[in-house]
Amino acid sequence: MSKPIYVLSGPNLNLLGVREPEIYGRQTLEDIRVLCEARAGQFGRTIVFRQSNHEGQLIDWVQEARTEGCAVVINPAGYGHTSVALLDALKTLAIPVVECHLSNPAAREDFRRSTYVSLAATGLVSGFGAKSYELAVEAACGLAA
Ligand code: DQA
Repeated sequence: MSKPIYVLSGPNLNLLGVREPEIYGRQTLEDIRVLCEARAGQFGRTIVFRQSNHEGQLIDWVQEARTEGCAVVINPAGYGHTSVALLDALKTLAIPVVECHLSNPAAREDFRRSTYVSLAATGLVSGFGAKSYELAVEAACGLAA
């Protein structure tokens, strides 16, 4: 049995569905979990799907993925724009990292135009709503050993 893909979501994404739906859509994180699981299943993969509002918790999970995962899909949310510590954790990984955003941060406020996470990511999927997660999981399936 191959190792799972870690699908990690950062702060405020627990509120998907009610949080600024005009930007992030009406699907909940649970809806997205179901989509990701199905997409991974099409490629014979499994996922570990987790969300936290806490930077240190996300870092602990990235460190866990270092030994327990075959790839990481991460929507760092606001921490993408601020967290050097999360970048440092991602840089310890020898497995593929796919950055994922529901919106297209490059087309929004200046402070969203770049993320620290991008410096450690193999690739980036953004702007497709919940579909960004599905596409990111598919990319991770293709990249993982
Ligand atoms: C986000 C984009 C970020 O700029 C923002 O802070 C989020 C969500 C997205 O999925 O579009 O919380 O990562």
